[in-house]
Parts: sequence; C-alpha cells; structure tokens
Amino acid sequence: MKQAKEDLRIEGGITRGPKIEIIVNGQPLRAFDGETIGAALAAAGIRELRRTEQLQDPRGLYCCMGTCHGCLVTVNGQPNVRACITPVQAGQQIELQEGYGKIDPAAPEPPPGRLVLMQVPLVIVGSGPAGLSAAIAAARVGTKVLVIDENRQAGGQIYRQLPRDFKVSDAARLGADYADGQSLLGQVRELGEAVEIWHEALVWSVFESNQLAVAHDNALVLLDAKAIIVATGAYERPVPVPGWTLPGAMTAGGAQVLLKSQRVRPGRRALLAGTGPLQLVVANQMLDAGMKVVAMAESTSMLGAWRYLPGLLHQPGLIKQGLAYIYRLKRAGVQMLRSHALRSIQGQGQVNSAVVGRVDMHGYPVAGSEKTFEVDTVCMGYGLIPSVWLTSLLGCRHDYHPLVGGWVPFFDANMQTDQAGVFVAGDGAGIAGVLVAKMQGTIAGLHATAHAGDITVDQAIQASLPQLRQLDSMGQFRRAMDRIYRIQPDLYANVTDETIVCRCESITAGEIRQAIRQGTANLNDIKKRTRCGMGYCQGTNCQPSIAAILAREFDADPAGIEMQTTRPPARPIPLNLLMGDLELGSRNAEVGKGQSA
Ligand code: FES
Repeated sequence: MKQAKEDLRIEGGITRGPKIEIIVNGQPLRAFDGETIGAALAAAGIRELRRTEQLQDPRGLYCCMGTCHGCLVTVNGQPNVRACITPVQAGQQIELQEGYGKIDPAAPEPPPGRLVLMQVPLVIVGSGPAGLSAAIAAARVGTKVLVIDENRQAGGQIYRQLPRDFKVSDAARLGADYADGQSLLGQVRELGEAVEIWHEALVWSVFESNQLAVAHDNALVLLDAKAIIVATGAYERPVPVPGWTLPGAMTAGGAQVLLKSQRVRPGRRALLAGTGPLQLVVANQMLDAGMKVVAMAESTSMLGAWRYLPGLLHQPGLIKQGLAYIYRLKRAGVQMLRSHALRSIQGQGQVNSAVVGRVDMHGYPVAGSEKTFEVDTVCMGYGLIPSVWLTSLLGCRHDYHPLVGGWVPFFDANMQTDQAGVFVAGDGAGIAGVLVAKMQGTIAGLHATAHAGDITVDQAIQASLPQLRQLDSMGQFRRAMDRIYRIQPDLYANVTDETIVCRCESITAGEIRQAIRQGTANLNDIKKRTRCGMGYCQGTNCQPSIAAILAREFDADPAGIEMQTTRPPARPIPLNLLMGDLELGSRNAEVGKGQSA
C-alpha cells in the first residue's frame, strides 16, 4: 500500500467535517466526516483499491459515480463495497480487495429486509437538473412527488454537491455549477413535503404494470405510480486503450467528482484525452486545484467547425465561456493537441505515462505520430451516452442515434415515451446539457402531472410553452455541438486484441472478436458466449465498445445492431432484502424517512 507524503486535498473555500481515523489494511489513515472512502484513499495517494479475480491486475477509481464498480473494497468484513460512493466512518476497517473478496464470518449479519407496497401519483428516478426541474414543475401545480436517487445527495453529476459535513466558506471558489445547483435545490426545499427525496435508493427491477422495485432503507419497496419520469442522466463513453484499467486512469467526469464534490486532486500531473467540451471544463478545474495539466488531446480536428457557426450562435454565452477556457489552458502552457487521441497508458501498478498520437478525420491512428507524456493521471472523456437501463427495463422503444453514438429512448413533444405514463428528461433522453435538461424536466413534470390526472393536458401545454420555445433555440446549438464533436468510428481501430474491453469480467477485444468470427452477430449472443456484460455494471460500460467493435468487424452501421437486453437486477442490491424474513406492509406505508434536498 503506497501512501503519498503530500495530502492531495484541496484547501480553501470549505471546511471539512470532523477529523476521524479509518483503518486501511491494518494501518490507521486520517479522513474527514463526509468524505467517501475513495476520496480519503485518493487524498492519501492510495490508488490501487483491488486486484481482479480473473487477471489479478490492479484497479482504482474510474467513474466515481458508482456506475463502473471498479473501486470495490471490503468494509468491516463486507466485500464489494463501492469506495467511490460509500462514506467513511470513524474506526471503519477497510481492506483493499483481492478478487471477489471474502465475507468475514464474524461480521454482523444485516437485519432482515422488509417488503412494502406503495402507491404514489408521480415518481421521478434521478435527482439531477432534469429530475429536480420535473419535481418542481409537478409540485407547483399540486402533485405530490417522490424522487428516487442512488446518491447521498441530490444534484446529479453536474450539480454534485459537497458532502453535508462540509461547510462552505467561500462559494465563489466552488464555481457556477455549485451556485446553480444550490438555487435549484433551494426551490425544491421551498416546496416542503410536496417533494420527498429518497437518497441511496436503487431501482433494480420493473415488474408488471410498470411497478418499480426499489431497494431503500433496508426495505424492498414495490412502487406503483400513475406516472414515471426517468431522469437517469448519462455516463461517459469508454474508448478502451491498452493500460486504461490502471489506477490513475479515469473518466473526466470521475476526476470532476473528486475535484468538485470531494475537493481532492485525482493526482499531480494530468493528461486529458477525448472529445468535447467537458475536457476543457475539467482541465480548468484541475488548474484551479493547483494540478499540472501537461496536455489535452482532442480527437476531432475542429477544422470544419465554422460551418456550424449559425447553430453555435444560439448560445453566445457558452461559446464565450469555451473560448475563455481554451485561452486559460494555453496561457498555463497546456499542450493543446487537435486530431490526437490516446493510444496507450503505461505503468507498474498505476499510471506513469501515456502515449497520444495523431488520428485522421475518422479517428484512425496515423503511424509515427506518437508522443509520450510522463503523467500520473489520465482522464478520458469521449462524450456522454444516455443511461437507458431503466427505460429498457420499462420496455420503451430505443433507437440508435448516430450523433449521440448510442441508443436513445423514443419520446414525443411532451417527453412521453411510447409507453403510456412513462416520461423521460435530461441526458438520459439524449445528450443535450444542463439547460435543455431543466427545460425537458419542466415539460415532463407538467405532462406527467396531467397523466396522473392533477391538471389537464391543455393546462400542461400552456404552462410548458416557454420551455418549448427555448428548447428549439437550444436544440440548434446542441446539434451543432454534436456534429463538431461527433464520435469518430475508427477510434476503435486502436483497440488491440489484448486490450480489456469489459472491465468487470476482464474480457479482451480479442475474445470478443473471436466470438464474432465464430458467428455471433448480436450483443446478447456476445454476452452469452464471453460473459461480456454480465459483470457488476451489467454491461453499462462495455456495451458501447462491443457495439463499436461489432460494427467494425462487419463494416456495418451501428444503427442496425440490436441493443443489449437489460436484465434485473439492473443495480446491485443487498441479498438480505430478498432472503430475509419479509413482512408484507400496507399500501401507502411510509418507508424510512424522506430526506430534504
Ligand atoms: S464492463 Fe461491466 S459488465 Fe462489462
């Protein structure tokens, strides 16, 4: 276990929670109430969190959102705990995990679960900008709303808040997103009991008549709602390269969680590689935090961007902000490499260096153009993909969207899917950014309320007219951005046979290609033959890469590839909820306590 002499916590602007001590592999370690285990370990320079069962290779923090399950550790004798979302507690015993880990027979048994049936008018899954805007719109016209979120706090990825135990002393140092998030959360608080939020609640299955199965507060809650809004957001598109599973290699969004929410630097010297504006934002946040950013590789050339100027000019403020980010990075001496992509990452046990190289307009590597950078942190950000596991479980129609580079649920002007009473909003409905997410959330909230019978459809249409008008303008901006930063299909040409594609099951591209050459032609078949997609994340992380590899093998349009079927449990749930002495609760029973935003 390596421990850095230097503490990677970012000082200034906040006061952390009380100092505590946790035990990591038998050694005491300083932490602060409110921190996640992952952040406390990262702050101490402990990057390797586990070794895989299959290859015994080291893994560390990757997505920091609880999605990838790469950061599993054993906590107080219980294996497979996600370090990135689990808070520290004084005296907690943490073991860096070998393989699947072992249950400590002396560890206390969890209490038996309960089964509760509930009915609510409107349930919203996800408490990011779309989910919160939907809740506000619905509650303001008199509907009681239940919001379900996996995280400990509302806000989603963009408005990710500081831990409750942290106190803000200088909000200006936390950036505009923090202030925007506070404003939205303030509106939710003003609505009082009209909006109830369940934190750390997992929707893991959907039963008949769209009944949601939710794990919350040691209860299995079967939830019937008149209307459902899915606002599950998005996650980062993986483009695997050799070495991308090394500790220190993470998504740009994962680095942002550490910087923004936990106030911890992910490392000291960073390289960012990918495409899209998120890289610019994260690189600037790294500079704010005092990190050295050595280079930023953007895979697109940006040469034809002027053609999309009319669309971009619909949001001049965002363009100005983007140019300011670029200016600052250049002044800080960051090498800005256009038409360059990540080739490989090297290191013994953690990242020591990374190689980037030139790519052509399709993303195909140009030989002889490689550059090596000595870094301890590599952030990969090839755009976002809608998180569609829940709309998939709900049986909604999905279409492959070439500009998004992934599957998107079908929805109409009211944000309703092809399933009556199921609405979508935000990045889970197609990647469109925070402003669109809020507008779509408002529209979905109003029309879901109409579906629940609390207002008429005409009232919902009238109330959502301002958002509909703005959406048109925002849509033009978004389409321009999508075209400029469109994912290049030949980026996947760099995925060598030895490269791990399925991080959970350690399945390589070679194994996937072999299955394809043996006659497998769809994602579900590949899953059955290789276990690719059967791991902890249920294929969330590997499905887009497998689809891209499949399309390349057949020289086919990805739009013709059938989406992988989502199977319950779509999220990891404690087995005691299914196996304990269950008692049947009554309808409308209260489960735990709803928490404030
Ligand atoms: S990466 Fe999680 S199942 Fe493949």
